[in-house]
Amino acid sequence: MLLITGGAGFIGSNFVVDWLSAQEEPVVVVDALTYAGCVQNLASVSSKDALVFIEGDVCDRPLIASLCAQYQPRAILHFAAESHVDRSIHGPGEFVRTNVTGTFELLEAARAYWTKINESERLSFRFLHVSTDEVYGALGDGDAPFTESSAYAPNSPYAATKAASDHLVRAYFHTYGLPTLTTNCSNNFGPYQFPEKLIPILILNALEERPLPVYGDGSNVRDWLFVTDHCRGVATVLDHGVVGETYNIGARCEKSNLDIARTVCSMLDELVPRGSGCYADLITFVADRPGHDRRYAINPGKIESNLKWRPLESFESALRKTIVWYLKNIPWVNEVRDRDWNDLHYGAELKAAAGQ
Ligand code: NAD
Ligand code: DAU
Repeated sequence: MLLITGGAGFIGSNFVVDWLSAQEEPVVVVDALTYAGCVQNLASVSSKDALVFIEGDVCDRPLIASLCAQYQPRAILHFAAESHVDRSIHGPGEFVRTNVTGTFELLEAARAYWTKINESERLSFRFLHVSTDEVYGALGDGDAPFTESSAYAPNSPYAATKAASDHLVRAYFHTYGLPTLTTNCSNNFGPYQFPEKLIPILILNALEERPLPVYGDGSNVRDWLFVTDHCRGVATVLDHGVVGETYNIGARCEKSNLDIARTVCSMLDELVPRGSGCYADLITFVADRPGHDRRYAINPGKIESNLKWRPLESFESALRKTIVWYLKNIPWVNEVRDRDWNDLHYGAELKAAAGQ
């Protein structure tokens, strides 16, 4: 049995669906169902006895303790977080609560449970913390990609809270011997990503004939990974990772935001041609994100050579699959977007530019 936090969010739900489609081992999902969590993301596996869904908060230590006592998980996989940088600029408090306090409460519940189980269970137990490359800060254009030994230098409130949570996980390994694993992954994309993040915004605004908001001059660089490859990476680290260690996950796929916008537009031109003109005509440069990190890039050499993980999807095929998924799942988009779409962006200027 796995206990999975945040399993109704974008990456967590992809992980749960892939896991239950490939094997029998059951999972208990604990998710607070914030704006970003949606039980429908798990619809394809909801009839399976192997899935238990609990609506709950990672800050609720007694709840996590009682779930551990009841289900005796062999591992806790911690995906739950506030995840959107723009939201953290507007309202960092919720990020501190969930990402820092929530991780602390979860670690305490895990430690109490782990201390009580028998020795062989203690040896095989794992606490796997899912984190981000943003903890390393920004790279300059000529800098080498982040490795596991890059210094932490988080720049946004989101990144700072994830960095704090990584440090807590590290401390629980060194101080208490809790068998932890940490993964630091680059930008994900794929089905079920909440339409506040760059790729779904581009797809959906284009289909709705709205401006495609590109921050600044569009030259900021991100390193992209298809969510399914990330989920396989997490499963690989769970099975084969060395306790106490961290693993960077990425596909060596650096792209500028403007390149991403242009590629999405040209795929849409092919799949659903516009009445007149092409989708790239909708690209609109808007006010930059405050403190916008210039470039992220992951060196995945450690997970590749030590654990034999490799991404299986090419960027182009994965992006095409993602676009087709959004085209077929407009009801899902409308359902989740109705929740608080108008508050998704940080600036009135940006909303005006996007015609909202
Ligand atoms: P998401 O925002 O789509 O989903 C987060 C999930 O956590 C939601 O289901 C939400 O309801 C749940 N949640 C939030 N607060 C909670 C709380 N207090 N208690 C219980 N559940 C709570 O996020 P995501 O993009 O799926 O990211 C998942 C994890 O992966 C995060 O830890 C994030 O930092 C990390 N990560 C994300 C990316 C990316 O590109 N999206 C890249 C690297 C790492
Ligand atoms: O690097 C991993 C991180 O990737 C994760 O830890 C975060 O949870 C995840 O949200 C993501 O963070 P980013 O800030 O990189 O993702 P976002 O999709 O918000 O933005 C990607 C890039 O696109 C970034 O440079 C900002 C830019 N952008 C974003 C939006 C929403 C735009 O130009 N226009 C937009 O409308």
